[in-house]
Amino acid sequence: MERSLGRVLVIVPTYNERENLPMIAGRLRAALPDVHLLVADDGSPDGTGAVADELAAADDHVHVLHRPGKRGLGAAYVAGFRWGLSEGYDVLVEMDADGSHKPEELHLLLDALGGSADLVIGSRWVPGGRVVNWPASRELLSRVANTYARLMLGVPVRDTTAGFRAYRASTLEKIGLDDVRSEGYCFQVDLTLRTVRGGLRVAEVPITFVDRVVGASKMSRAIVAEAFWRVTVWGLTGLPRRLRRSR
Ligand code: GDD
Ligand code: MN
Repeated sequence: MERSLGRVLVIVPTYNERENLPMIAGRLRAALPDVHLLVADDGSPDGTGAVADELAAADDHVHVLHRPGKRGLGAAYVAGFRWGLSEGYDVLVEMDADGSHKPEELHLLLDALGGSADLVIGSRWVPGGRVVNWPASRELLSRVANTYARLMLGVPVRDTTAGFRAYRASTLEKIGLDDVRSEGYCFQVDLTLRTVRGGLRVAEVPITFVDRVVGASKMSRAIVAEAFWRVTVWGLTGLPRRLRRSR
């Protein structure tokens, strides 16, 4: 691992991931033994929070944030980032609990961050990136969402909705989290846009995204609808600025 990066915290949001959590925690701890893990659980009815507590009790590199109820991926990450910043971590990583993001590929993101980036995205849609076992309908949704976001926002990123990413602490401090309103997966687009508009450097590295084997996706119509209207609003409110720039 790139030593000059400092202390790294991987935040894993969980909602009903009881069977996946020990698997992903074990793989992360084996792949990068110096890295810390924060589980941000939203009071999962299946008892994921208790599983997280057991892991934390047995390992001083594992931490848990319990939140009272399901408040969305965005809110869970904002809480996790706040915790990590207050604890003095230098790098804050986002990773899903279900194995879709391989802990064994995290070093690729960290190496790129140590190169010269303020945010590194593990990307499915750059050359070399791959998606394994996703239904065609889900792949289409991701491609359409990414194309719409890129056109509406003018952001030069192929995978703005990606959930495997590494931020420098300084990036999160600069873009600010206080006025983040995104609840669902558009949180990823939101923070990408803030990073680009903040004049910071975004790099994408290809990853292999593997669909979950156990449990269910939390993707819903409400999440798609929120993403669509927010991206549209961000696109329209950012238009004067894009026009000024292209002149
Ligand atoms: N705490 C908390 N609260 N965690 C949540 C919530 C929530 O409301 N909703 C989802 N999660 C957790 C899940 O438990 C999982 O660890 C992770 O967030 C991703 O959720 P999935 O339901 O597995 O997402 P997906 O596979 O459908 O979506 C993937 O693609 C999206 C679009 O590209 C992920 O990579 C997302 O991060 C990505 O935005
Ligand atoms: Mn998933």
